[in-house]
Amino acid sequence: MSPLYRPLLLLALLLPLLANAAPQPPAAAIASAHPLATAAGREVLEAGGNAFDAAVAVSAALAVVEPYSSGIGGGGFWLLHRADGREVMVDGREVAPLAAHRDLYLDEQGAVIPARSMDGALAAGIPGEPAALAHIAQRYGRLPLARSLAPAIRLARVGFPVSAYYQRMAELRRPALNASPAAASQFLADGAVPPLGHTIRQAELATTLEALAQQGADGFYRGEIAERLVAGVRAAGGIWSADDLAHYQVVEREPVRGNYRGMKIVAAAPPSSGGIALIEMLNVLAGYPLEQLDPVDRIQLSVEAMRRAYRDRAEYLGDPDFVTIPTERLLHPLYAAGLRASIRRDQATPSALLPPAAELTEGDHTTHLSVLDTEGNYVSATLSINYPFGAAWVVPGTGVLLNDEMDDFAAKPGVPNAYGLVGAAANEIAPGKRMLSSMTPAFLEQDGRIGLIGTPGGSRIITMVLLGTLEFAAGHGPQQWVSQPRYHHQYLPDLLFHEADALNETQRDELTLRGYTLRTADPYGNMQAVLWDSVRGRVEAASDPRGEGEAVVFVPQPVPATK
Ligand code: GLY
Repeated sequence: MSPLYRPLLLLALLLPLLANAAPQPPAAAIASAHPLATAAGREVLEAGGNAFDAAVAVSAALAVVEPYSSGIGGGGFWLLHRADGREVMVDGREVAPLAAHRDLYLDEQGAVIPARSMDGALAAGIPGEPAALAHIAQRYGRLPLARSLAPAIRLARVGFPVSAYYQRMAELRRPALNASPAAASQFLADGAVPPLGHTIRQAELATTLEALAQQGADGFYRGEIAERLVAGVRAAGGIWSADDLAHYQVVEREPVRGNYRGMKIVAAAPPSSGGIALIEMLNVLAGYPLEQLDPVDRIQLSVEAMRRAYRDRAEYLGDPDFVTIPTERLLHPLYAAGLRASIRRDQATPSALLPPAAELTEGDHTTHLSVLDTEGNYVSATLSINYPFGAAWVVPGTGVLLNDEMDDFAAKPGVPNAYGLVGAAANEIAPGKRMLSSMTPAFLEQDGRIGLIGTPGGSRIITMVLLGTLEFAAGHGPQQWVSQPRYHHQYLPDLLFHEADALNETQRDELTLRGYTLRTADPYGNMQAVLWDSVRGRVEAASDPRGEGEAVVFVPQPVPATK
């Protein structure tokens, strides 16, 4: 062959390969609830880390600078997508201590004592976040755990400035924080909410993070830190043991999957209720031409889908290692068709007409992060410590703020609640069991557009993700998913909650006429979202305007990887 033709032959051989090569994002993106956490992720990506290293860095930084939302004393769900297509949910949810029992939060008369599962050491489940971070770094990351934790350790030592949002959260929990001397000295200033710009330094937390960085999960769950945690919790009336910490296990779970009009949904599996409820709602809505309907009809149908999915959530969902969940049935299109058959277009279905299940109560302080790297790896993770500042209790000598995730269990299953309803046995307390969650980190995919989505917001998380998902399906970008006005129904109480600008006056009148009881809600949620359009080669990211987070899209400078 003439040397002239050789380059052409080479091109002909390479073209099919190039055509089949998986597309790669032209930029990386990070959206998180705090600019310092977003910066921590960026630092680690620019140090040669991948999306999983960056997710570890962002999670750990949020644990430091957003102590009211998540922490290494808490847990979460990390949904991972590797560029080779592998998808997994890393379940770092807290578990009930081995000494826990069904009636832990009841008094002698069998009445619930709410404060016991909200404030102080008895409210805390065994944390999962440290084990999850070590697991993700070790199994999926490229950098050493110590490198990914470095920004968080620095932030804990050097400190971060108090914002107006911090002040609001601290004011909400001030009395409870003052009951814990270590929490008061870490998060308050002389027992009061610190002034704007005041620096919060957490030297003991930095030392605990260093133990994790150097020894992996053992640095937290065994040895000196573990001994301090157990002694401190027990001295404060809690029930942790060394065995609880030593036996904590991260679980890798298959995410739940669904389809909605050609869109693929991958979302958190139980012990989160999020993925199942999200897909159940979408299956119901798939039977209606939503885009062609009048907005008020669209809202009504969405609300009826929410009502039915939340009823099922209350009845069937719990820790899959303890209860059998009828996932296949709940996610079957025929089941959705059955639910649709009970929906009237001109009238609300009173929740009391549906088969009874327990009312849902859940804390609403949680956080979310979405990360995409330029290789096509991505993460959507929702993390929690439950109520703002969790249990508001810091274990002396560790800097660890305890979660109050035990409150996410049904405190009194099998006993009629205020509505006379019985249920929630699937989510009753048992030793070593994970409490049901609403956290809904999700991936969406349609026509080469890939969305990473999630938000804090307690029981409202799932309906926020639903509304964001419908915006994605309609072809809108992440700015629209995170900023659109929100509405919510959760079966009980039988109320339609809405942000002030979610419904206009005509829509409010019409929905009232159809039998809905409306309640205006303060702005809620803090969605963090990323879009990679692999067909158009575009990346976008957005952080909820209701929060103080930051979303960035950037091209990291390549640095040789080390491990
Ligand atoms: N604590 C909030 C949740 O797990 O959904």
